[in-house]
Amino acid sequence: MLGIILFSLFISYTAYLGLCFLRHWSLARKIGLPYVSFPISSHNILFLSLFETRFVPYVINTWLSPKLADFIYGSAFKTRWAARDRLHRRYGGVYMLITPSVSTCMVCDASVASQICMSRHGFPKPIKQYGALEMYGPNIVTVRCPNVFRVSANVSQSEGSQWAHLRRHTATPFNERNSALVWEETIRQTKEMVQYWEDEYSRSSSASEFILTDTREDILKFTLNIICSVGYGVKLPFRPGLENSTESAEGLFKDAITPLPGYHFTFRSAMEYLNKHITSMFIANGLLPKGIPRSVLPFFKKDFDAFDDIGRYLRALVSTAETKETLSQNLIDGLVRSKQKIDKDQGLDPELTEDEILGNLFVFTIAGHETTAVSLRFALVLLALNQDAQEYLYEGIREATYDEPRNPVEWDYRRVYPKLVSPLCVMLETLRMYPPVSGIPRWTGDSAVNITYHNQPYLLPPHVYVNVNASGLHYSEEYWGPDAAVFLAKNKEGGLSGPGLEYDTIHKPVRGSYIPFSDGFRSCIGKKFAQVEFVVAMAIIFREYRVMLAKSNERETEDDLRRRAEKALGESTAFITLSMRDEVPLLFQKRCVSKA
Ligand code: HEM
Repeated sequence: MLGIILFSLFISYTAYLGLCFLRHWSLARKIGLPYVSFPISSHNILFLSLFETRFVPYVINTWLSPKLADFIYGSAFKTRWAARDRLHRRYGGVYMLITPSVSTCMVCDASVASQICMSRHGFPKPIKQYGALEMYGPNIVTVRCPNVFRVSANVSQSEGSQWAHLRRHTATPFNERNSALVWEETIRQTKEMVQYWEDEYSRSSSASEFILTDTREDILKFTLNIICSVGYGVKLPFRPGLENSTESAEGLFKDAITPLPGYHFTFRSAMEYLNKHITSMFIANGLLPKGIPRSVLPFFKKDFDAFDDIGRYLRALVSTAETKETLSQNLIDGLVRSKQKIDKDQGLDPELTEDEILGNLFVFTIAGHETTAVSLRFALVLLALNQDAQEYLYEGIREATYDEPRNPVEWDYRRVYPKLVSPLCVMLETLRMYPPVSGIPRWTGDSAVNITYHNQPYLLPPHVYVNVNASGLHYSEEYWGPDAAVFLAKNKEGGLSGPGLEYDTIHKPVRGSYIPFSDGFRSCIGKKFAQVEFVVAMAIIFREYRVMLAKSNERETEDDLRRRAEKALGESTAFITLSMRDEVPLLFQKRCVSKA
C-alpha cells in the first residue's frame, strides 16, 4: 500500500514538474530570445550539493565532453563561473535557461547588463532569496528598492521607502574619514599578520623566507579584524589574546581562548563559525520557522548558539555607541550618528531602529570581510603564477613610497593611497578574473520588463529571474580582446576601471562589461572600503616580499606547481562568494633591496 502511495506521489510530482516546465518553455518561446532547457533548477539544493563532492566534478571533467561539462556547470548557480562566457558564445549574449521551477534570463552582453543594473523601474533583487540575511533585522540587502512600489501593486510604499531610508543611513558612514580608518587599521593588521607569519613559519635555516600552506584562515581573520575595528571600533590583535574582561566593549571582544561565562563563542570564533557553517546558520536561524522549539533540532545547537552570541555582541556594541559622548568615524558610530541626526522638521526620514542597526551591521560583516579575503587569496596565487605582474606591482609600490617614511604606520592616507595605482590594478584584474560575486541576481518582479538587445526589444514577463553573468562578461573577448583569459594587471594601467573607479590613468571598459562591484542602485556600498584595504595590504606585503609557488615535496617540478595552482584556481566554486576550495602553498621570500 505504502509503495502505491509513494509511486502515485512520485508520478504526480513528476507530472507537476512537467507541466511547470511546459509553462516556462512556452513563456520563454514567446520572449523570442534563444533558449535552452535543463531538467533541474539551478538552485536545487540536492543538485548543488553534488558539486560539494569531489567525485561529481571529477566525473564531469574527465568523462564528459567539454561542451556537456559547460552545459552542466552553467546550469547550477554555484558552478556557473566555471563555464565563463562559453555558453554565451554558443547561445548568444542573452538567452533563456528554462527549468521546471524557474526561467532565467542569462545575460553576458554589456549593454543589457547595464540596462538591468541601471534600471529604475525594473529588475529588483529577488529579495526572497536573501530572506535568511534578515536574521538580525531588516537591512539594505533584504528590503525592496523604492522603484518597485511604483510599478507593483504587491509591494507597499512603506517597503519601498524603507529601502531608500536604509540606503541613505547606511551609505553615510562609508565616507573618506571612514576610508582613512580602513587605511590605518589595515596597516596595523598587515604588519601584525606578516610578523606572525615570519615568527611562525620562517624556516629555521633562513629568517628571510617562509612557506604558508594555508592562507584561508589567516586572511579571513585579517579581514574580520579590520571589519571589527572599522565597523565596530573593536581592535583585535592578530595573535590570539589570553584573557577576558567584561569591563568594556573592548574587553568583551578580546580575542580570548575561551568565551565569557554565558557565551558559547568568543566574538571571533562566532564569526568564524558563521563563515564556515553559513548554510546551516542560515537554515537554522533564517529559514526555519521561529515557532519550532530548538530542543527538537539538536543538530543545529551550535548554529543557534552562534546566532545568539553574535546578536548579544552586536547589541552590546550598539548600546556602548549610544552612550558615547563623542562618536568616531567607524560604521557603528556612523549608524548611531545617522540615527540621532534625523530631520524631525521634515519628518521624512525616520530614525533607524535597533533592529535595523543590528541587521545592517550583520550584513556589513557578511558582505565586507569574505569578499575581500577571497580577493586577497586569489591575488596571492595569481601573483605567484605571474612573476612579471609581481615585478610591475613591486616597481609601482617602490615608486609610490620611495619618498615616504620607512614605517607604513606613518603613511598618510590622502597622500599615499592615490599613488598606489599598481596594487589597485592588481585588485581590478584579480576581480575581473575571479569576481567574488560571479553572477548578479535580479528578477522582473511582478511586472513585465523590456530589454533592448542588439537593437531589438524583448519583453521579459513577470517572475523571470535574471543572472547578469559577471564572469562571462569579464572573460568575453569582445570586451577584453584575445588575452581575456590572461592575468594582465600591468596592462590595466592606462588599462582598467569600472564605474566609480575614479583614476583617469586607468582604462575604462565598456560600461556593463566590468561589474565586480555591480553597478547602479544596488552596487556595492563598501567598494572604497575594500579597495583601500586591498591596496595598502598589498603595498606592505609586496614592498618587502616576493611570493612564489611552494613545493609540497621535493619531487615536484615547476610545471607541477603551476598545474596544481591553476587547478585550484579553476576549481573554485561559489556558494555566496567565489572561492578556492583547495589551498596553494606559497613561498614568501624577502627581497634583498633595502626598504624604500
Ligand atoms: C572585494 C570586495 C567586495 C566585492 C567584490 C563586493 C561586491 C559586491 C557586489 C557585486 C554587490 C552587489 C550584489 C548584488 O547585487 O547581488 C555588493 C553589495 C554590497 N556590498 Fe560589497 N563587495 C566587496 C566588499 C564589500 C565591503 C568591504 C563591504 C562593507 C564593509 C560591502 C558591503 C556591501 C553591501 C552592504 C552590499 C549591498 C548593497 C545593496 O544591496 O544596496 N562590500 N558587493
